[in-house]
Amino acid sequence: MKILVLNGPNINMLGIREPDIYGRETFADLLALLEKTAREEQVEIRQFQSNHEGELVDRIQAAYGVCDGIVINPAAYTHTSIAILDALKAVGIPAVEVHISDVSAREDFRQVSYAGMACCKTIAGHGIKGYREAILYLKDNYA
Ligand code: DQA
Repeated sequence: MKILVLNGPNINMLGIREPDIYGRETFADLLALLEKTAREEQVEIRQFQSNHEGELVDRIQAAYGVCDGIVINPAAYTHTSIAILDALKAVGIPAVEVHISDVSAREDFRQVSYAGMACCKTIAGHGIKGYREAILYLKDNYA
């Protein structure tokens, strides 16, 4: 099974940005967790992080016919990007939305998730281990 893990803006700043909200684990820790999960679960993981909306759309489109699942944390684009929603709908690949923080307990402007409208599951507030949970969910349900 091939899984694309996509991260949006500022996720590369994990460990530095607002640690009270996002924790002290770094982006490098997240990449290590993804590699470990891929090894243990025998899945192929491709990961990409970008601060640019169009690049995330490009990667979703490029996954068509290639990847069997998508794990996506669109970060701030969660709450603004119809382009990412449309791209996820266009490719029709099972997708799980992940948020490190518990967005449901945060500001009003974080209560809408456009990307989530195209996802089969949302995992929020579990820190970086939410990505592992998302990968396991895709493996259990779509491998
Ligand atoms: C986030 C939550 C978003 O509201 C925020 O803009 C982020 C990160 C999370 O992982 O908790 O950048 O997606």
